[in-house]
Amino acid sequence: MIINVNLGLRSYRIIVESGAVATVGAHLRELGVGSRAALVSDAAIGSLYGKTVVRSLEGAGFSVALVEVPEGEAAKTLAVAGQCWNELLALGLDRTSTVLALGGGAVGDVAGFVAATYMRGVNFVQVPTTVLAQVDASIGGKTAIDHPNAKNLIGAFHQPRLVLVDPAVVRSLPEREYRSGVAEIVKHGIVLDADYFAEVERDAAALCARDLPVVERIIGGSCRLKASVVERDERESELRHVLNYGHTIGHALEAATGYARFAHGEAVALGIVAEARLARRLGLASDDTVARQERLLAAVGLPVTAEAIDTDAVVAAIGRDKKARDGRVPFVLAPRIGAFRLVFDVPAADIRAVLAGLAA
Ligand SMILES: NC(=O)c1ccc[n+]([C@@H]2O[C@H](COP(=O)([O-])OP(=O)(O)OC[C@H]3O[C@@H](n4cnc5c(N)ncnc54)[C@H](O)[C@@H]3O)[C@@H](O)[C@H]2O)c1
Ligand SMILES: [Zn+2]
Repeated sequence: MIINVNLGLRSYRIIVESGAVATVGAHLRELGVGSRAALVSDAAIGSLYGKTVVRSLEGAGFSVALVEVPEGEAAKTLAVAGQCWNELLALGLDRTSTVLALGGGAVGDVAGFVAATYMRGVNFVQVPTTVLAQVDASIGGKTAIDHPNAKNLIGAFHQPRLVLVDPAVVRSLPEREYRSGVAEIVKHGIVLDADYFAEVERDAAALCARDLPVVERIIGGSCRLKASVVERDERESELRHVLNYGHTIGHALEAATGYARFAHGEAVALGIVAEARLARRLGLASDDTVARQERLLAAVGLPVTAEAIDTDAVVAAIGRDKKARDGRVPFVLAPRIGAFRLVFDVPAADIRAVLAGLAA
């Protein structure tokens, strides 16, 4: 499947294809970029797929060096970005060169930030390897590192020249990581496309079993939805907020539990449950709309209840939401499957009630 992301001069293609990691070189050559490249990855991913990508690049005439970053969030620091800049310079990368990210969202974010800043911006290619990175983080050009006091605070918009999605590689993900990414897939269905939501409902078991043709079709569908949002709102002014469904409460749950208790997608699943019920409390959504969301999340193995949530801590964390405008936190709510509405000034009592309701 090929998805065009139409952004004028910054347009690019998302290629979703099993085995795509072995074709990076040929696709990069089509872009007409310079012959030097750096492949940013972590040790785990590098050992699984790095050789295949390097072989493909070398086979297409590129000289490529591996730049290793730490695994997970530890990669998103200024020190790691600085180390990468040093290596790119030592390798002689110039403005025609390409930085490739092979890994999850963390590798993509730091590699993208490095590509955005090195020589004021060089070519960037995403080869995402987690479900979350394939359907979400690799598309849209948001790059970032963390500030010691705030995640993703330091960054830039820098669109990739190409996103190469190989759905086969997600089969090596640990189960919890895999399911966590599926939360973003469910999110896309709920707020953007009722037919897609129904497709995920129908194929939930095969998706969980990582049946390759199903994984490829569903991941491709989700990439298409994310791309359509990015096309219409590249810089996150209004529409792109829709992608925060489940995240206003989800992020607050993560922050209030020190990013240790929940995987991101687990917190998003709970956030979806709470925000779905919030829409019902506010008279915007029916019981059936809420029930379908909960049923699908449970069917893909995501949590829909959580004990011992510190409501005060979560409400306080919502108040610190980066998306707040003039102190008002916007909630994306789903009046029905396939639709969304931005709602400001949700009463704190209603937020507390849905948080309390998460305890089964
Ligand atoms: N830029 C954006 O628009 C955007 C959007 C959403 C999230 N993010 C960022 O993405 C990051 C989270 O990304 P993530 O969930 O992909 O986690 P991650 O990047 O932290 O990777 C998780 C782990 O999975 C391993 N892994 C990756 N692919 C694998 C594979 N195919 N097989 C086996 N193991 C594999 C990695 O080595 C790592 O240890 C966060 O930093 C978040 O801020 C960015
Ligand atoms: Zn998310």
